[in-house]
Amino acid sequence: MDSLKGRDLLSIADLTKPELQALLDLATELKAGSRQPKCPHKVLGLVFSKASTRTRVSFSVAMYQLGGQVLDLNAGVTQVGRGEPTADTARVLDRYLDVVAIRTFEQTEIEEFAQYASIPVINALTDLEHPCQILADLLTLKQAFGTLENLTMSYLGDGNNVAHSLMLGCALAGVNIRVGTPDGYAPNPAIVNQAIELAAGRSTVEITTDPQAAVHGSHALYTDVWTSMGDESESAVRIPQFQPYQINQDILNLADDQAIVLHCLPAHRGEEITHDIMEGPQSRLWDQAENRLHAQKALLAAILNAT
Ligand code: CP
Ligand code: NVA
Repeated sequence: MDSLKGRDLLSIADLTKPELQALLDLATELKAGSRQPKCPHKVLGLVFSKASTRTRVSFSVAMYQLGGQVLDLNAGVTQVGRGEPTADTARVLDRYLDVVAIRTFEQTEIEEFAQYASIPVINALTDLEHPCQILADLLTLKQAFGTLENLTMSYLGDGNNVAHSLMLGCALAGVNIRVGTPDGYAPNPAIVNQAIELAAGRSTVEITTDPQAAVHGSHALYTDVWTSMGDESESAVRIPQFQPYQINQDILNLADDQAIVLHCLPAHRGEEITHDIMEGPQSRLWDQAENRLHAQKALLAAILNAT
């Protein structure tokens, strides 16, 4: 884990497979309470330009449990909201904080921040990726099946930030990944190619417009909102196109009998997932949300070299 000390996490693909496995192992120990690393006096800044419940609260609680402190620096209370350039903000916050988690629109914005700040920069969601989410998702999958070997994850819906990080994370972990999206909403081709390269023939990466084929025999069904933050004006156009990709009982019946259902949340019940499935026996949504805390605590402990 020494290799993660001081590192950025801008993409889930910034991790090597051993680093990902080590983070999941540490998260498991933290969840069990068998290890309690501390990094007192360290300060995490949350620079968020979009709404957040899970990411904001789980990062904050993780940092408090590590003995550190948190500053909530959303764009509305800082000069970020008034357009202070990223390069200037980064060089200033670098002098105060020990680590920063950023939620924003463009991936290039966090890349620029990381270029100008020497402290670790964590991607807390951009339009391109949501790596912290996928740490929790893989932890949830591993805890449900006791392993990440010989598993297939199916994602239905929009080829968005969550889909991108899920593809890369599954490929890194050796989990087969199938993504089913409507025509015109496929994942970024560069990310698809990157996932195929990361899988290196150990696992498969499949993209389809056929929702039934995407979920057939799968061990985990995953979905996310059809319209992400920033794309709200497209919602009415998207809903009818995405309807066949809803996770409902008919779709779940095509998966493995033991399949679990995941959603990064927040959900639009009745759109990408039905109320019954969210509340049903195969849902692991609340474990998944809890695991954000353990996974991000492991990440913070590793990059801050907490002992
Ligand atoms: N899943 C997720 O990132 O949730 P929030 O937007 O509430 O942080
Ligand atoms: N794809 C969603 C994820 C929210 C956690 C969005 O970007 O709005």
